[in-house]
Amino acid sequence: MKFLGSFVTFFMFLLWNHFLSEVGACTFYVSNKCPFPIWPATAPNQGHPIIANGGFHLPPGKTYRFPAPGDWSGRIWARTGCNFDPTNHKPACETGDCDGKLECNGSIGLPPATLIEFTLQIDKKKPSFYDVSLVDGYNLPVHVSTKDPQTKCHIGGCSKNLKAECPLELQVLNGRGEVVACKSACLAYNLDSFCCRNAYGSPDKCRPTVYSKLFKDACPFYYSYAFDRPSPLVNCAADDYVITFCPEKWGSDQHMSS
Ligand SMILES: *[C@@H]1O[C@H](CO)[C@@H](O)[C@H](O)[C@H]1NC(C)=O
Repeated sequence: MKFLGSFVTFFMFLLWNHFLSEVGACTFYVSNKCPFPIWPATAPNQGHPIIANGGFHLPPGKTYRFPAPGDWSGRIWARTGCNFDPTNHKPACETGDCDGKLECNGSIGLPPATLIEFTLQIDKKKPSFYDVSLVDGYNLPVHVSTKDPQTKCHIGGCSKNLKAECPLELQVLNGRGEVVACKSACLAYNLDSFCCRNAYGSPDKCRPTVYSKLFKDACPFYYSYAFDRPSPLVNCAADDYVITFCPEKWGSDQHMSS
């Protein structure tokens, strides 16, 4: 009996190691420090699997932990003001909605939303790279770091509440008339000069604008437009990453209700 017990224990140890090496090459910790619930979502780039079921509910003060393959690449964002009641019409969320579903199933979500973009290279023993992008607009501030703190691996939050700073023409309002997100100029006007396309498709042609400067001033560590320089891309070798929405206390975001 004792022999069988240790055999089973050993077998489970082998299985666990297999699980760690195959599936758990990287761990994400997603925290909600907003005073309201959020619904984080993930969408893989082409050829990569869906992680964290594509989306989940995260009450204030909670952290959800999930694994990702060591070569995963894709985006993570958070949805706000969701109601998944099937009688509720689409979109189900005020920001970041994906087809009205809790689990996004590969869908990239409706902009504007603050995007965290990851390319993991743990399995190649190379540093992973990641950034926070406002190229498609802004809905929440976010802080990204490695689990073992390393200064060069941090992407800081915002120094101003971009929803309060958002110009009228870029504002997205909910049914109660509250600003829930801020469009990028590219999203709002779909012009080559704002979207860095065609004649504006290079860093020397696509320059900061009054809008991108406003984003940069509020959130200096994020991409404020597609060719933001110096590049806010972070290169870091680590297995575990922490993503914190609403990382610090500030202004009206803290008074926003659910
Ligand atoms: C998820 O997406 C896949 C591929 O597009 C599709 O075949 C499947 O039906 C979707 N599942 C749900 C639950 O929508």
